[in-house]
Amino acid sequence: MLMNRIETMVVDSGPRRGLQRWYETPALLRLGGKLPPGSRALELGCGAGYGTGLILEQFGAERVDAIDLDPQMVARATRRLAPYGGRVRLSTGDVTDLRRVLDAPDGGYDAVFDFAILHHVEDWQAAVGEIARVLRPGGRFYFDEVTADALATRGYRWLFEHPTHNRFTAAEFVAELERQGLAVGSRWLTRIRGHYLLGVADRAAHAPA
Ligand SMILES: C[S@@+](CC[C@H](N)C(=O)[O-])C[C@H]1O[C@@H](n2cnc3c(N)ncnc32)[C@H](O)[C@@H]1O
Repeated sequence: MLMNRIETMVVDSGPRRGLQRWYETPALLRLGGKLPPGSRALELGCGAGYGTGLILEQFGAERVDAIDLDPQMVARATRRLAPYGGRVRLSTGDVTDLRRVLDAPDGGYDAVFDFAILHHVEDWQAAVGEIARVLRPGGRFYFDEVTADALATRGYRWLFEHPTHNRFTAAEFVAELERQGLAVGSRWLTRIRGHYLLGVADRAAHAPA
């Protein structure tokens, strides 16, 4: 689901960029570490592309494919990421449809990043299935999410627009990852009474059918 105008402003703002650089990235690096040299990463819902730069610079990816549903966000990301040249490939499309949008092969990525996007996706379980499909065995999923507890607050309901059904708590999100062969174990944490969730998961060598 596309963001409304207020969220579009918030997402591409200095405070959001600061939070992503100075809190979320170090927390995810503590949980999951850097990527091996030469890694190919996929970023879901890249927005204006600030996180894509962090994936290259801080997590150490060699190349990033990044996708967003909103063509205006992809246009902003294209401008921001131009200095990286061929290390970044941007596409417009839905994260539940990676095969068509990106021609993403099974097991084609060493890492997938979710910086606050799956809570926007109606069928987020289908997106988890796609993440499990495109990660190579042993590949890593880094996630930073907004839970149903946050979305139910007056502030979120007044200011932003999100799907109202089929949202997830932190525990439900982690359980769905595990169900689809993405092993989290104890590598996750919540913040602000369970409103925010950060963690990493590794794709099992043999994902469940
Ligand atoms: C809250 S913003 C997060 C943007 C950026 N990752 C960040 O952390 O600042 C969510 C982004 O996901 C995109 N989005 C929402 N639903 C999507 C979908 N089904 N497929 C791809 N992108 C989607 C939105 O257009 C938006 O750019």
